[in-house]
Amino acid sequence: MCEKCRESFYITTPIYYPSDKLHIGHTYCTVATDAMARYKRMKGADVFFLTGTDEHGQKIETKAKEAGVSPQQFVDAIVEGEHGVKDLWKLMNISYDRLIRTTDDYHVSAVQKIFKQMYDKGDIYKDAYKGMYCTPCESFWTASQLKDGKCPDCGREVQPAEEEAYFFRLSKYADRVRDLLVNTDFLEPRSRVHEMVNNFIDPGLEDLCVSRTSFTWGVPVDFDPGHVVYVWVDALFNYTTALGFMNDRFDEFQRYWPANVHFVGKEIVRFHSIIWPAMLMSMEMPLPKKVFGHGWLLLDGGKMSKSKGNVVDPYLLAQRYGTDALRFFLMRTFPFGSDGNFSNEALISCINTDLANDLGNLVSRTVAMAQKYFGGKLPMEQEGNEEKDAQLLELAGGLRDRYEEQMEKYAFQNALAEVFKVIGRANKYIDENEPWRLAKDESLKPRLARVLYNLLESVRICAGLLRPFMPATTDEIMTRLGGADSRWESLNTWGNLPQDVAVVGGGALFPRIDLEAELKTLEELTAAPQKPEEDPLPEPLPEITFDDFQKVEMTVVKVLACEKVKKSEKLLKFTLDDGTGTPRQILSGIAKYYQPEELVGKTLVAVTNLAPRKMMGQLSCGMLLSAERGEKLNLVMLDDGVQVGSRLV
Ligand code: ME8
Repeated sequence: MCEKCRESFYITTPIYYPSDKLHIGHTYCTVATDAMARYKRMKGADVFFLTGTDEHGQKIETKAKEAGVSPQQFVDAIVEGEHGVKDLWKLMNISYDRLIRTTDDYHVSAVQKIFKQMYDKGDIYKDAYKGMYCTPCESFWTASQLKDGKCPDCGREVQPAEEEAYFFRLSKYADRVRDLLVNTDFLEPRSRVHEMVNNFIDPGLEDLCVSRTSFTWGVPVDFDPGHVVYVWVDALFNYTTALGFMNDRFDEFQRYWPANVHFVGKEIVRFHSIIWPAMLMSMEMPLPKKVFGHGWLLLDGGKMSKSKGNVVDPYLLAQRYGTDALRFFLMRTFPFGSDGNFSNEALISCINTDLANDLGNLVSRTVAMAQKYFGGKLPMEQEGNEEKDAQLLELAGGLRDRYEEQMEKYAFQNALAEVFKVIGRANKYIDENEPWRLAKDESLKPRLARVLYNLLESVRICAGLLRPFMPATTDEIMTRLGGADSRWESLNTWGNLPQDVAVVGGGALFPRIDLEAELKTLEELTAAPQKPEEDPLPEPLPEITFDDFQKVEMTVVKVLACEKVKKSEKLLKFTLDDGTGTPRQILSGIAKYYQPEELVGKTLVAVTNLAPRKMMGQLSCGMLLSAERGEKLNLVMLDDGVQVGSRLV
């Protein structure tokens, strides 16, 4: 295809918050985007696939503070660090063309220019904001938008907030956005259109608060210090700055904008289908062609979230079962537009049924028979049987078109179902033709050769169409088919495989997994570490007066020597410097918790006016202070800088 005639295809994932490690829900959306990008590339399109990370905002600022690092260090660790975002996409074989980080300098300066342009136009103005704020979602809500007084997105508590702020004239664009949603296929699935129109547009679109002064981790409004750009304005424009809009780092904007499709989760459809087009209208830029709002992967019926502690780790699963198996499971099991329930059992069953049994067996049986009966290379002399072959040929021959119809609708699950219908039919074709029976009769060898050819050709077509989902598996199968052709053009041409194909053997593509045993292992691997049970708090003591307290003499002492007391399991004998010049002897019942030698030289606190008493025949002049909780005792230690003999007051 000539370079100029190539259709361009720009597809994006949401940019992820690196506030925690990513989980299987994030992986789901990215794998879907990758499958679509690979599919379009296979068809010859000039694809640009963008992903990224959304690194500003209060949530990140707070988390960084809790972790005792700067926000930049915090996000760097999650994006670039071990098992971070980039590592995960590598493991999942994600073929993105660019990964934007909203802290990238070119993006920051571009956002400042964009904000200024909307301000100069009069679409952004300064006012005071009063509203309810949801910190985890970084969203302001009006009273009418709250659900039972809580955040309508996440259901959590909201706080009243007021600040001087800039506003975007969202209300000005309400009619145009409504028209876009209702009268075009900009937003899919269609059910999401009703949700947007009924819940947000028709009740009245209010202007949107687009700056903050309550924290600093964001893109500064360069003409008004103290304000940072609202994280969603910053985030949404990533789709354009990553191509070079308002910056000279990249120059692909003309070539790829407007985006063909933004894949986004359902809770951020509002931002992408109302706020995003309105801001683009303000900037007088072309609108993306489509926003597709996919469903959530649920765990036990609820959304996964780190704060709920119910996230599934994609690392663990990909490393255990293989990247392709995990990618396949995600796309095969859940309809893209709806929610789906994730379970380990569903994952393992899917691998066993579709991959080990249906696909894996078909490939290994067919290749093994070609090796056994023909030494690995089919003879040219072959004999068809119209009646017996017709159904398989028709089904496999027409597969690419049926698959394409589904893929163009982003119906990944249905596209894969079409492929597996053919795989199922091919397995049945083996049983119908009983190659092992044909092999017994020399005169039936040409028929046997054709049966195996038909099977191998079906495998080629199916495996070729599985490429967007399982790229490594497709490569492996094509190798086993003697380096067969898997280009898009070859996948609706029955008979592309050379008649005298020479196959190559190999091990099981997907070994079967023992479901029961594996479920147990997974449970053990993913079980939250048991928190040690906390000892109960000690009973409070009756109140004392300050005079009572002052009666106790507490002195800083240093351990000169320490040894076990013979015949006692509990007692250690201390020789202490208490600053008086005369060593003091104290016995303390802490032998269970310390080795005597580790205490020599330590600075401790002793009650030095306690009446002496005898223990195990030895005199103890005072008591060392220790902290007691339940069974445990910890000596109170001071740092060495505290002078021996000082009094505690
Ligand atoms: O929303 N199932 O970032 P994010 C399916 N920074 N998808 C899920 C999911 C689940 N269990 N959990 C999360 C943001 N996702 C913004 C985007 S775009 C300009 C800014 C999806 O890291 C979620 O629906 O919280 C969203 O589409 C994406 O992961 C990123 O979520």
